Amino acid sequence: MTSALFGLSSLAPEGVGQNFRSTMRRFPATVTVITACASGDQRDHGMTVTAVTSVSMEPPSLLVCLNNRTLLHELLLCRPDFIVNVLTQDQIALSDAFSGKVSPEERFRDGQWQRHDNGVLYLPTAHAAIACRRVAAMPYGTHTVFIGQVVSADVSETTRPLLYENAQYCAASPASLPA
Ligand SMILES: Cc1cc2nc3c(=O)[nH]c(=O)nc-3n(C[C@H](O)[C@H](O)[C@H](O)COP(=O)(O)O)c2cc1C
Repeated sequence: MTSALFGLSSLAPEGVGQNFRSTMRRFPATVTVITACASGDQRDHGMTVTAVTSVSMEPPSLLVCLNNRTLLHELLLCRPDFIVNVLTQDQIALSDAFSGKVSPEERFRDGQWQRHDNGVLYLPTAHAAIACRRVAAMPYGTHTVFIGQVVSADVSETTRPLLYENAQYCAASPASLPA
């Protein structure tokens, strides 16, 4: 089978998928909880996501990659507003809760969540909170790439972001050349 993108074969040679998975495990990534809200019954939902990257400054925008089987994926196809809450090093329990250890209904039990002007819950104690409006969604393979145009962005100067590498939570520390 040939992909519509650049004519690449969508079937990778045997072993490449496994090597890619092992390689990506070693990419340190910032841990976020992405929140959204279903209309009508105001059903709040959130999920732990590391696949978040800035796209452009004009307009300010970022992308998020979500597995097609997740509830958040379903929600973002219907509702345009979402918030990227970048977790602090003290918020490992929240990351665990929002990555499946706690049922979707119970996930907002811990944390001092507040409602943004766009109706979506955000975490004022997070390292950063970036409110976005979905402007594009591109399905590819098992995932969909959502592009969000940034509506507001706030970062704390007193906290440090939580990272994830090799299936472990970790923290960044400054690196420098040997003296
Ligand atoms: C550290 C970490 C990062 C994750 N990053 C992503 C991601 O970028 N995209 C994704 O689709 N799932 C990611 N997941 C998996 C989802 O958080 C997990 O499948 C979640 O349970 C799905 O939410 P749901 O139960 O509401 O459908 C990540 C999980 C962890 C622990």
